[in-house]
Amino acid sequence: MTEQGKSSNVVWHHATVTRKRREQMNKHRGAVFWFTGLSGAGKSTLAHDVEEKLYQLGHRTYVLDGDNVRHGLCADLAFSDQDRKENIRRIGQMARLYVEAGIIVLTAFISPFRSDRDNVRKICGHDFHEIYCICSLEVCESRDVKGLYKRARAGEIPDFTGISSPYEEPEAPELEIDTESHLDECSKRVFEYIAASVELR
Ligand SMILES: Nc1ncnc2c1ncn2[C@@H]1O[C@H](COP(=O)(O)OP(=O)(O)O)[C@@H](O)[C@H]1O
Ligand SMILES: [Mg+2]
Repeated sequence: MTEQGKSSNVVWHHATVTRKRREQMNKHRGAVFWFTGLSGAGKSTLAHDVEEKLYQLGHRTYVLDGDNVRHGLCADLAFSDQDRKENIRRIGQMARLYVEAGIIVLTAFISPFRSDRDNVRKICGHDFHEIYCICSLEVCESRDVKGLYKRARAGEIPDFTGISSPYEEPEAPELEIDTESHLDECSKRVFEYIAASVELR
């Protein structure tokens, strides 16, 4: 589960406040729920909607969302294949630390490449749950929440997923959600899946 870094003389410090103790206090397990899908498929909307439900019930959650991460932690990265790969690797490592803190992490990244998502699966092991937000390009484009499709079609945005950059569908996601249907239904399904996975008490 660990990656070999450039420095060989760093040693993991074991906390006395362990993940297990944190999870006992939180009354649920920590885990990563990785939403993937095209821009406009509904990853952010769903992740925040489910987080709101969990929060109102008193659970410990955090949403890692694409744009927010790119403002800071990954501000040095663009959208080339190599940069997307590094972006997802950093997020995967960060998500793993959150899980160690006993948090229910929901992530909302297009994460178009299968190998990158599989890499996060390796980093997070059994704590990783891939949720595929299935929404056709046509519907995403008609939503065009941020006006990005219009700009991409006009050739103003290079490497735009679904238009000038590929999206590789998950082969065996833990959960598939049809995000062309009603948000409430989608949200309920995701909530139930998370509740069972983290053993909410
Ligand atoms: N079932 C659904 N799940 C999520 N979003 C939906 C759904 N139906 C309609 N929408 C709408 O689709 C848009 C999705 O945008 P957003 O969540 O920003 O997508 P993404 O984060 O995947 O780029 C929002 O305007 C949302 O209200
Ligand atoms: Mg989003």
